[in-house]
Amino acid sequence: MAAGKKYKIACIGAGNVGASAAQYCAEMELGDIVLFDIVEGMPQGKALDLTEAGPIRGYGSVLTGTNDYADIHGADVCIVTAGLPRKPGMSRLDLLNTNGKIMTTVAENIAKHAPDSTVIIVTNPLDVMVYLGFKKLGFPKERVMGMAGCLDSARMRAFVAMELGVSMKNVDTMVLGSHGDHMVPLPHHTTVSGIPITKLLPQEKIDAIVQRTRKGGGEIVALLKTGSAFYAPGASAARMAQSIIRDEKQLLPCSAYVNGQYGLDDVYIGVPVVLGKDGAEKIVEIEISDEERKALHTSAEEVRTGISGLKEVGIL
Ligand SMILES: NC(=O)c1ccc[n+]([C@@H]2O[C@H](COP(=O)([O-])OP(=O)(O)OC[C@H]3O[C@@H](n4cnc5c(N)ncnc54)[C@H](O)[C@@H]3O)[C@@H](O)[C@H]2O)c1
Repeated sequence: MAAGKKYKIACIGAGNVGASAAQYCAEMELGDIVLFDIVEGMPQGKALDLTEAGPIRGYGSVLTGTNDYADIHGADVCIVTAGLPRKPGMSRLDLLNTNGKIMTTVAENIAKHAPDSTVIIVTNPLDVMVYLGFKKLGFPKERVMGMAGCLDSARMRAFVAMELGVSMKNVDTMVLGSHGDHMVPLPHHTTVSGIPITKLLPQEKIDAIVQRTRKGGGEIVALLKTGSAFYAPGASAARMAQSIIRDEKQLLPCSAYVNGQYGLDDVYIGVPVVLGKDGAEKIVEIEISDEERKALHTSAEEVRTGISGLKEVGIL
């Protein structure tokens, strides 16, 4: 991505997470933003509303809403949140079928209208949808990634800060694996201003934080009653877009294509990634315990089951 250029971000899916990502991108003035959705009027209405917040919040990003994929033309970054949440009575396979079809259409249109973009996928089931998006887009693996670990680690950072009564800004952590019950939070890589939390909290408190992180999405769903989290997911996707557009080389946990790293092959899974102008520029391999490695592999197996499900329903 060239310096001095005006960037364009396409949010494909202008529901809760998509609109929230657009808001954070506008607040950071990452570029101009196009909100795309199949619902007529809704992306236009949200884009106008966000534009009208600009004079108060002091941002100058141009926001537009559309139902026409042609308007994402030339986007540098696409944030994909199009899809349905799992509804009561819906099996995992049903969700794969529905969101798999949506992801296929989205990928075909991104490939057609924004062939040079870097794509951040948010739609669930996350790692499986990223794999599908990668296959359908035909982009280099570095330009297709998923947002999950960034959110999961933000949740864990918040929980540690709440437990210790310290600033969230001082807490750092890493969460690997798939986005779901089998994610792999790494307490041994969690610090408060450089101090490992193992020196600050008893093991049972750390275990409780790990468990709460794993169930972080469900906790919000239970409270909201309808829908799922969107502020933190939107902020996480915007943070990834920021690192790519500004070539910041932030080291963030992202769902990336592994070919050999951590002993895993041909799967998308949450790993530490350096994000810069060329997308997922580098996967960083850190030392993890045997138990964590085992959990990471279990996580990858879960993703492979989802990929097999896509093959079963004829989408892949
Ligand atoms: N990876 C994560 O950490 C994470 C976190 C939160 C949500 N999610 C997932 O993100 C997705 C979006 O969540 P949300 O809360 O914004 O849902 P939402 O229902 O508010 O928004 C989804 C939007 O997708 C649109 N859509 C449906 N089919 C489409 C198509 N073919 N093309 C374009 N748009 C289409 C809908 O009209 C809707 O506006 C869900 O799959 C959710 O499970 C993932």
